[in-house]
Amino acid sequence: MLLHIPEVLNKQEVATIRQILDAEGWVDGLQTAGPQASGIKHNEQLAVDSPLFADLSQRVAEALQRHPLFVAAALPKHVLPPMFNRYLNGGHYGNHIDNAIQTDRFTGQKIRTDVSTTVFLSEPDEYEGGELIAEDSYGCHEVKLAAGDAIVYPSTSLHRVEPVTSGVRIASFLWTQSLVRDAWRRAMLFELDMNILKLRGQIGDTPEVVALTGHYHKLLQQWAE
Ligand code: NI
Repeated sequence: MLLHIPEVLNKQEVATIRQILDAEGWVDGLQTAGPQASGIKHNEQLAVDSPLFADLSQRVAEALQRHPLFVAAALPKHVLPPMFNRYLNGGHYGNHIDNAIQTDRFTGQKIRTDVSTTVFLSEPDEYEGGELIAEDSYGCHEVKLAAGDAIVYPSTSLHRVEPVTSGVRIASFLWTQSLVRDAWRRAMLFELDMNILKLRGQIGDTPEVVALTGHYHKLLQQWAE
């Protein structure tokens, strides 16, 4: 399931983050690439030892964890500190699957990556190309969102970023360990959750809606780890 999450950051928050990012130090994305990625990764990343990294990263993490749609879809157990990348001058990232385990750079904890998230920080008209192409069971999806919007997809999805042929594409990206590791179970819980919310809005908390809500929580209780 690929899910578009609108307005994780509002335009003012995006502008503030962009202003800080513009003044910061960027390094070759190869510094954090594994052996498989090293031949296909052509981008830049915000240096994680940059003095403002922790603050910027926290702004994005908090905004996501405040967003009910992100919480419902990702069922986050541990959100790794968001990082920042930029693509320019033909920069791209070929087909790959993200590493299954990442280390939290602040705590040293090993985290299983269940959900990948990209928060777009450039408007689509600021650059040519740069689409995120992600595969799921229904085929390939092309994603290019407004600044402040995010896309969430299973970390097991094959994906790539198309070459940026003009302008600059800036984004934040991060991984989440979910309470529910299986993408299909997460998608089912999300669908049930969203429909219960709609039903509650339409008919209120009838005994049936209360029972369905209970059913959601029983499933979550069975599947959460
Ligand atoms: Ni990736």
